[in-house]
Amino acid sequence: LGAPVLDIGKLYKDTGHFTYDPGFVSTASCKSAITYIDGDQGVLLYRGYPIEQLAKHSNFLEVAYLLINGELPNQAQSDSFIHEVTHHTMMHEALKSFLNGFRHDAHPMAMLCGVVGSLAAFYHDQLDMDDPEHRRLAAIRLIAKVPTIAAACYRYSIGWPIRYPRNNLEYVNRFLHMMFEVPSEPLTLPPVAAKALDLLFILHADHEQNASTSTVRLVGSTGANPYACVAAGIAALWGPAHGGANEAVLKMLEEIGTPDQVGKAVEKAKDKNSGFRLMGFGHRVYKNYDPRAAIIREMTHKVLADLGVQDPLLDVAMKLEEAALNDEYFVQRKLYPNVDFYSGLIYKALRIPTEMFTVMFAIARTAGWVAHWLEQQTDPEAKIGRPRQIYTGAASRDFKPLSER
Ligand code: ACO
Repeated sequence: LGAPVLDIGKLYKDTGHFTYDPGFVSTASCKSAITYIDGDQGVLLYRGYPIEQLAKHSNFLEVAYLLINGELPNQAQSDSFIHEVTHHTMMHEALKSFLNGFRHDAHPMAMLCGVVGSLAAFYHDQLDMDDPEHRRLAAIRLIAKVPTIAAACYRYSIGWPIRYPRNNLEYVNRFLHMMFEVPSEPLTLPPVAAKALDLLFILHADHEQNASTSTVRLVGSTGANPYACVAAGIAALWGPAHGGANEAVLKMLEEIGTPDQVGKAVEKAKDKNSGFRLMGFGHRVYKNYDPRAAIIREMTHKVLADLGVQDPLLDVAMKLEEAALNDEYFVQRKLYPNVDFYSGLIYKALRIPTEMFTVMFAIARTAGWVAHWLEQQTDPEAKIGRPRQIYTGAASRDFKPLSER
C-alpha cells in the first residue's frame, strides 16, 4: 500500500494559518499587569510607577512587594513582608553537601541553577500549586533564599566556609556580609555600597516578557513547581545575549584596554564576519536609550567617586558609548547602551568578581520571575505554552533496512 505522501503545502493550508515569528518579535504570549515598556520612548513602569521614581525613592524589597502584589505596601504590610523574607533566608544544611559535589572552579551560575532547582526536593510537601498559601510561600522562599544560595556558591568557589545569613541586617547588606565577611573580622561597608547594589537590584527586578521570564512562564504553564520554573529562568538568563551580557561587557572592556583602542572595537562590531558585537549595546524592545542604563551611568560615576575607585575601564566605556552613539551603523539600527553596559563597573567597584555578575542579576530578577509565575497561576486564560513550527524536513518516506542504505 505504501505510506501516504505528505503534501507539506497542503498540510499548512489545511491547518489554517499561524504566524511565523522567530524570536517572538511581534507575538504577545500573555496578558500581564506587572511591567510596561515603551521601547521607542525609553519608558519603563513597574505596576505603573516610573523606574526613575522607584530608583530614587524605593528599595528592592519594597519593589519586590510591589511587583508581586500590585501595590506599594503600607507600613504594616512592609514590616510583615520584610519579616517573612528575613525568616526564610536560611538554606537547608543538606544543600551544603549538594554544593560540595561541584568542582571548585564551576561557574556560580551553573551552581545556582542546580541548587535552586533542587529546592523543590526540600519543600515537596508544599507544592500544591492550587493552594494560594503554598504559592505565596514559594515566592517568599525564593526571594529570601536565592541571595543565600548565591553567596554560598561564591564562597564555595573560592574555598571559603559558607556564612549564615545575619538576620539583624537588611536584605542587601545581609547579602554583602554573606559574600565577604570572614570570621573574627566584622565587615564594615560604606553605605554607598549597599545603596548602589540595592539600586541595581531595583533596576533589574523585572522587564516583562524577556527571555528568562518567558522561560519561567513557559515552564510554569505546564504546572511545574516554582523552583523548577525559576531554575529554568536562571539557565535562560545565563546566555550572553541576555543576563550574561554584564559579564561579557566587562571582559570586552578589559580586552579593549584603553580608550585609544575603542575605534578598532567599533569597526570590528560593524563587521558581520567578525562574529563580534558590542556587548551591552542593543535591545529587542528599546529603540531609544534604555532608561535603566541612564540611571546606572549616572550612578557609576557617583559610586566610583564615593568609594575612591579610579577604574580606567570607565574611560573606555564612556569613549565606547560616545563612539557608538556617533556612528552611522549604530544610529541607523537604534543601538543604545542597555542595562548591562555600566552595571559591571559598579559590581567591580564593589569587589564582586566578574563571574558573579549574572548571579547578581538573577538575585534581582527572582522578584520579577515569581511575580510573573504568581500572575500566571491565577490567569483564567493561561494555557500550556506550545508554539508551532514551519516544518522544513523530508516528506514521508519508507524505512530502508541498514543493508540497503
Ligand atoms: N553590536 C553590533 N551590532 C549589533 C548589536 C551589537 N551589540 N546588536 C544588534 N546589532 C545589529 C545586528 O547585527 C543587526 O544588524 P542587521 O540589521 O544589519 O542585520 C541589527 O543590529 C539588529 O540586531 P538583532 O540581533 O536582529 O536584534 P535583536 O533584537 O534580535 O537582538 C540583542 C537584541 C540580543 C540584545 C542584540 O542587540 C545583542 O546581541 N546585543 C549584545 C548583547 C547584549 O548586550 N545583551 C543584553 C541585552 S539586555 C538584557 O538582556 C538584560
